[in-house]
Amino acid sequence: MKRTISLLIILTLYGTVLAGSVINSKHNLSVSGTGDIKATSETRVCIFCHSSHNTSSEGPLWNHETTTGNFKTYNRSTMNSTAEQPNGATKLCLSCHDGTIAVGAIKGVAQPIKMNNVGPSGEIPTSSKSFVGMDLSGTHPVSVKYEQSTALADNHLRWPPQDPEKIVGTDADGYVQCTACHDPHDDSKSDKYPFWNKTTFDAVCISCHSY
Ligand code: HEC
Ligand code: HEC
Ligand code: HEC
Ligand code: HEC
Repeated sequence: MKRTISLLIILTLYGTVLAGSVINSKHNLSVSGTGDIKATSETRVCIFCHSSHNTSSEGPLWNHETTTGNFKTYNRSTMNSTAEQPNGATKLCLSCHDGTIAVGAIKGVAQPIKMNNVGPSGEIPTSSKSFVGMDLSGTHPVSVKYEQSTALADNHLRWPPQDPEKIVGTDADGYVQCTACHDPHDDSKSDKYPFWNKTTFDAVCISCHSY
């Protein structure tokens, strides 16, 4: 009896972990992936972004080639702060989403992992909904330092960012990144907004904005 109960608990926990996991999201780029863009035969899921040895210092055990591109940033006159060239997690995201680097371009291999439905060099094609490109002027400012002085000057920004669940906010260096809104490992919270950090759209915005 005791054993049955602990097995049930384990299965339930396993189910919960899977429900919010990269495995059943479009970021499962392995052959078992759920999206159009996936490997022709590679079975490893995490390998596209992480490995355990000889990784790059650009991110946590980062295993993908990173972009070196010069991006057009969001810089309107209404801004009190400045969006810098992509750094932190934003740079990691754009290493696939800028559409210049092969999705399968992991470290230490001569040829990128072979993928279905990618462009001629293995990149996210411009025709894909997931293509972001090098022009970020129409994307919410990213790699922008969130400072108290900005919040005071803006009048509609909370200081500090306030999320009761402590999910939405800046990174450890105080920057707003793509990960303020998206969680690259979990596409289960919202049906409408991909890889969304919260169950509703507004819950993300009002962690920082006070309209
Ligand atoms: C290793 C390459 C890679 C990295 C790194 C990467 N992505 Fe993706 N992402 C993809 C691919 C490929 C798709 C499209 C999958 C498809 O359409 O089959 C995708 C899809 C998405 C989508 C759209 C999903 C949908 O339902 O339409 C979002 C949002 C997204 N990624 C955000 C991010 C963010 C944010 C980061 C960084 C935190 C990131 N990605 C890092 C490769 C990557
Ligand atoms: C499409 C790219 C992508 C895939 C696939 C991916 N990750 Fe990540 N992972 C990221 C990014 C980007 C970060 C950095 C997030 C940040 O800085 O906020 C990250 C961070 C992490 C971290 C550091 C802690 C954290 O959550 O920030 C761990 C641990 C991790 N990933 C584990 C995994 C495991 C295990 C897998 C496979 C099941 C996996 N990841 C698959 C993109 C990915
Ligand atoms: C302020 C929140 C926010 C930030 C920051 C943000 N996104 Fe998004 N993203 C969204 C929303 C909302 C959507 C849903 C489609 C839409 O409304 O444009 C989306 C959609 C996407 C999609 C899918 C495109 C589509 O039309 O479905 C990709 C890929 C993506 N984001 C990648 C990124 C990357 C890469 C970054 C960083 C450079 C980023 N996002 C930063 C809010 C954000
Ligand atoms: C992690 C904090 C954070 C989150 C989450 C966030 N923002 Fe922002 N947002 C900022 C910062 C910081 C700025 C730059 C403000 C400035 O410099 O004046 C900004 C700028 C903006 C601007 C441009 C203002 C201008 O002057 O051009 C708009 C519009 C905006 N955010 C809307 C949103 C929406 C909509 C969401 C939710 C989908 C959202 N933001 C989520 C922090 C955040």
